[in-house]
Amino acid sequence: MSVETLKAQINTVETAFKSSLEKSAGQDGLEALRIQFLGRKGALTDLFKLLGSLPAEEKRLGGQALNQLKNLMNQQFQDRMNDLGESRNEQTFFDFSLPGDVGYVGRIHPISTILREIKSCFTSMGFSVRQGPEVETEYYNFDALNISKGHPARDMQDTLFIDESNEIVLRTHTSPVQVHVMESQAPPVRIIAPGRCYRRDTPDATHSPVFHQVEGLCVDEGVSFADLKGVIQTFAKRMFGSDMKIRFRPSFFPFTEPSAEYDFSCMMCKGKGCRVCSGTGWVEISGAGMVNPAVFKSVGYDPEKYTGYAFGMGVERIAMLVYEVHDIRLFYENDMRFLKQF
Ligand code: DAH
Repeated sequence: MSVETLKAQINTVETAFKSSLEKSAGQDGLEALRIQFLGRKGALTDLFKLLGSLPAEEKRLGGQALNQLKNLMNQQFQDRMNDLGESRNEQTFFDFSLPGDVGYVGRIHPISTILREIKSCFTSMGFSVRQGPEVETEYYNFDALNISKGHPARDMQDTLFIDESNEIVLRTHTSPVQVHVMESQAPPVRIIAPGRCYRRDTPDATHSPVFHQVEGLCVDEGVSFADLKGVIQTFAKRMFGSDMKIRFRPSFFPFTEPSAEYDFSCMMCKGKGCRVCSGTGWVEISGAGMVNPAVFKSVGYDPEKYTGYAFGMGVERIAMLVYEVHDIRLFYENDMRFLKQF
């Protein structure tokens, strides 16, 4: 082969390389081009192999021409690589002087706020906060609380069973925590037990299948109904203001004897009578009473020696009264328009 033939081939490769370089797009395209022309088995290597078939006196010229081509191809290839890198950098360029995105700051849910207030009120009166399981046995949820088999409170309509044959339920109230606590310690007991409860209710303005209660329990020698009234009265004034009145109405709960339901004077109309209190001036809060000796027996407390009071409290109920919310479902819908107001 003569050096002229080699030069002609060099021109062909150079032209092909340039037009391919022009057409090549993106990182992948450039890589394919590199393999095709500059790779170990590429066009340039093939041309170098031809050097051996040149007559000795033409080898120097041929080598120069090939090296020229090699430098040119490397240079142009590198330029394209640089262009590509720059345009990529432009896309990801970040202006640090721009004002930042303001992150969303969450807030405390109104139910949690009320729960905190209830807890702080009772802890300041010497109560400690205890918890119990939300998945309960029927024994704790009912039997130990003197709610016998066949009692309407156990009705399938009200209770969510996890496993009917093994008598596992979602607790329908926080009263079973009374039993757990008394089983775990000797008197004196002075606790509140806040937490979630579950009932098979269809949601409406005042019912939710998941809701919160706070249970209260105080057991010692010589505890009386007067102590219960004093504690509830103190709570009512702390929560709603010093002109808040309370009243107890006789009622029935299997785990208290005597039992009562207690009301607060209506915070909307100050007892005059309005829509919230259905014109009565009072709003019902929950039940309370003196711990039934049957409950003491099931936990091994001596009913001759100890007396105690217990009370319940619906957290949503209190929150609705404090915030003047008329539909319990609003607390659970996670609608920001509602939650942002607290
Ligand atoms: N556990 C009752 C309920 O969910 C509320 C209650 C009533 C709790 C009387 C008590 C009590 O501690 O003494 O309806």
